[in-house]
Amino acid sequence: MNRRKFIQNTSKAGSLLILPSGISQISNSTNPNFTKTDFGKDFKWGVATASYQIEGAWDEDGKGPSIWDTFTQNTNRIKDGSTGNVACDFYHSYKSDIQLVKDLNFDVFRFSISWSRIFPEGTGQVNQKGLDFYHRVIDHCLEIGVEPWPTIYHWDLPQALEDRGGWVNRDIISWFEDYSSEVTRAFGDKTKKWMVMNEAASFCGAGYLGGFHAPGKRGFKKFYDAAHHANMCQSGGARVIRNEVQDAIVGTTISCSWIDPIDQKEKNILAAKKLDAFLNRLYLDPIVGRGYPTDAGKFFEKIAERVPDSDYEKLKFDFDFMGVQNYSRTVAKKAFYIPVVKAFQVPPKKRGVPEDQITEMGWEVAPDGFYKILKQLGEYKEIKRMIVTENGCAFPDKVEGNSVHDPRRVQFFKDYLGNMLKAKNEGVKIDGYFVWTLLDNFEWAEGYEPRFGLVHVDFNTQKRIIKDSGLFFKELLEE
Ligand code: NOJ
Repeated sequence: MNRRKFIQNTSKAGSLLILPSGISQISNSTNPNFTKTDFGKDFKWGVATASYQIEGAWDEDGKGPSIWDTFTQNTNRIKDGSTGNVACDFYHSYKSDIQLVKDLNFDVFRFSISWSRIFPEGTGQVNQKGLDFYHRVIDHCLEIGVEPWPTIYHWDLPQALEDRGGWVNRDIISWFEDYSSEVTRAFGDKTKKWMVMNEAASFCGAGYLGGFHAPGKRGFKKFYDAAHHANMCQSGGARVIRNEVQDAIVGTTISCSWIDPIDQKEKNILAAKKLDAFLNRLYLDPIVGRGYPTDAGKFFEKIAERVPDSDYEKLKFDFDFMGVQNYSRTVAKKAFYIPVVKAFQVPPKKRGVPEDQITEMGWEVAPDGFYKILKQLGEYKEIKRMIVTENGCAFPDKVEGNSVHDPRRVQFFKDYLGNMLKAKNEGVKIDGYFVWTLLDNFEWAEGYEPRFGLVHVDFNTQKRIIKDSGLFFKELLEE
């Protein structure tokens, strides 16, 4: 095998300009110290996206409002005051955007379905135009040879359902089942790879406990119920896919993070264990049949106490794969003043992590943490296979002519991919890797400033420019 050498200096990388209508110019890029072949011929390479973050067209073709429409339009809780009303305008430019996936040599386009495009009121009357849009997206993928991988739910709950209590109302289990049946019956003949949910930890924690994401609710009681109902829907939705879609490959996605105690003091080791339960295990253990992580303290016992016994069997599902999403590591310290978990996530700056190792989100670049969390999850005998369904980073970008030289992002991917390969070579069953994300987009409460894309988006003109990091993948994945 011809192993090409790792080139550190990425600033000489060439650029490729893509206008919405297609490719105009390509030049050279960089080489990593591994090749595509090292990951195996069946390994899936993809990019991940989410409806609210890219689609725009927030009220077009009969779509009902989602909690993110309400949250962005009616509160001032988005950093730059922006909304996803237009976002990347993917609703109209889906063809040229999916063409980018193909041009960068990825196999898979992961996208999510907006519930309120299909059911404007959350339940009841189906909006055919909403279904038609995703038919067009899926058909276009199939036409140009990209695999469409839908996620049923990526945080944009119909506002009509939030008005009835949202994730806190137990009825959501049947609302979610109905919605899942509708979309799997509509698209199940065309696409077999499905993910039920995106990061229950994030939308429950940020939306129903911290209140900094939609719907902006706070409070432990709300949180306990939202988390349990989300778990019931992860497995309930999976069961629907299994029943409705012949030969389906069924997964769901979890956010996860390797957790180190700040030092070896017993209290901080315990703080790390609690955070591990809170961030990693709460949405994973119950759905693979391990129940809630009650060994990590009273908080988790409280959640478990609220769960009717008859739910435990329903919580468990035999997933074909677990979607693993990782960005950074966490460092834990005991903090008596933090309610419930009594543990504090010490920010990288406070730990003396150098500026250039901290992303625009304030997250530490921690490729070794990626390796360690993959190994940790590799210990779950209930997880048959894993796919990394999100990994990526936001750094400030500068457009220079028709180029965006983003050496820090390129380096991030080289280091993270290298660590994933190490875990894979040591026996962790990882079948794929999806980059977060294709296009710079609406980063929730952070607005448009943090840019995660392999493709730069000018939000005034909607012009796309492939960054050097996009070219890095294009070259890595070249047949
Ligand atoms: C996780 C979420 O799934 C995605 O929506 C978000 O943009 C990325 N992480 C980056 O924060």
